[in-house]
Amino acid sequence: MKILIIKYLPSASKSNTAQLLNHFKQGVKTYTIEEVDLIKNPPPFFNEASMDAYKSRNFGGQKLDSVQSVAISPMDKLTIQFKSADLIVMAFPMHNFSLPGIIKTYFDAIMQKEQVFRYEGSKSVGLMTNKKFLALYTCMGGYSGEYGYMDNVRSLLKIELDFMGFKEYEIINATTGRIDTRDVYISGAKENITKVLSRWRI
Ligand SMILES: Cc1cc2nc3c(=O)[nH]c(=O)nc-3n(C[C@H](O)[C@H](O)[C@H](O)COP(=O)(O)O)c2cc1C
Repeated sequence: MKILIIKYLPSASKSNTAQLLNHFKQGVKTYTIEEVDLIKNPPPFFNEASMDAYKSRNFGGQKLDSVQSVAISPMDKLTIQFKSADLIVMAFPMHNFSLPGIIKTYFDAIMQKEQVFRYEGSKSVGLMTNKKFLALYTCMGGYSGEYGYMDNVRSLLKIELDFMGFKEYEIINATTGRIDTRDVYISGAKENITKVLSRWRI
């Protein structure tokens, strides 16, 4: 089994979220882990050349010319790496009620038609059905009950993972805003990570 970790942890050594990721890594005994730090290797945005390439190849079924190939190559490399993993683990903080922009940019780079999803008639079909996904994130607030709708990390991830066809995924979160409860929430999240590792026999 190959595990791919995609992380965006701008608080670095002071990161709450890193505690969850470290707990995951300590729990994994035998598998190969490849780790991508998006701060050191940021994913590309679409520009005119890569957008042309994406539309004409992935939607138009056309061959790329050399300019288009170069333009889309960084996105293709990320997509190949994403698809090569059996388990993808993402770790990041909530920013402004959603995924930090760099994580969204990563998804925009890898969510390529014909690679992670395709259309059959007017219906979309996810192609990541035999893969697992684990998201680890922390946020200051607690978004339960009537406030649940404000957590766009969970809702957007669910939409994207379902769209790509993931059948087994977990989204684990800890609330860090209050100093008196932070450790309790982080410990709870670590217990949940341990349970997932055990259930997935990792
Ligand atoms: C730019 C920025 C935006 C944030 N937006 C939110 C938010 O919308 N909701 C929330 O609950 N916490 C928000 N937070 C708080 C962080 O998500 C929280 O402190 C988290 O635990 C930080 O994780 P880290 O220590 O790994 O960086 C924000 C923090 C920053 C720096």
